[in-house]
Amino acid sequence: MPDLAEQIRTGRLIDSLGSAGAFYDLHYVETTSSTNDDVRAAALRGASEGLVIVAGYQSAGRGRRGRRWWSKRGQGLTCSVLLRPSLAPAASHLLAFAAALSAAAAIESCAHVSARTKWPNDILVKGKKIGGVLVESRVAGSQIEAAIVGIGLNHYGRSGDWPQEVQERAITLEAAGPARLPSRGAMLATLLVELHARYLGLQSDGGDDLLAEWRQRDIVLGKQVTVTLGSETVEALAVEVGPCGELILEGSNGVRRTVTAGEVTLR
Ligand code: BTN
Repeated sequence: MPDLAEQIRTGRLIDSLGSAGAFYDLHYVETTSSTNDDVRAAALRGASEGLVIVAGYQSAGRGRRGRRWWSKRGQGLTCSVLLRPSLAPAASHLLAFAAALSAAAAIESCAHVSARTKWPNDILVKGKKIGGVLVESRVAGSQIEAAIVGIGLNHYGRSGDWPQEVQERAITLEAAGPARLPSRGAMLATLLVELHARYLGLQSDGGDDLLAEWRQRDIVLGKQVTVTLGSETVEALAVEVGPCGELILEGSNGVRRTVTAGEVTLR
């Protein structure tokens, strides 16, 4: 089995995407600071949507809320996709949903391991984080001009390789123990096909299907949660996701409030 770099560089991976292959322009870099930075720079130079940069190693991979994204060389699947959707900025969340749901679908169809999502952007296997999505958008007027959709998935290795604080909360696909561990190339190909389908769906129905799918996969809806919003902590019932992917909470006094960002933990 050729490795991921070779599958991308020879064009073999894009050829395996079927009709979705025409949408993507796929590149591999051995080392970079962050694929989100590379795709953002390309977007500023006028790159078309569908550009994908996959990295063997990121020296400054980042996650949400200013966190680092840890992945040893060749162990994870780290990539960023450029999208230029006709969507209002508030709908950026829906792009994160599309990417997280696509990653969950790829895990299930390639590894036959059950995967869930956790608002707003986590992908979970066996209750632990296997991946995350970081969407960084550039806005022009009332539209998203460019959305950089960064996806990180823990593939090979064991969580013992990671910093202590990450170990208890995270898992790799290998550690999840699939009967047969798929290659990263197979995972990436499926992820890109799934993302393309959800992106087209989002543009045509405004997100109805995506939200319905999210409600099925999300682990926090209907549960009592603690949400950390900067220095504020809120304890509430996670009731619903709104039309732009915002989380609707209900306090014990019945008062509802909507949050668009934050860290959610189950109580
Ligand atoms: C999170 O869970 O907080 C989001 C993690 C997103 C990580 C990916 S890896 C590829 C892309 N490049 C980055 O620097 N971050 C994203």
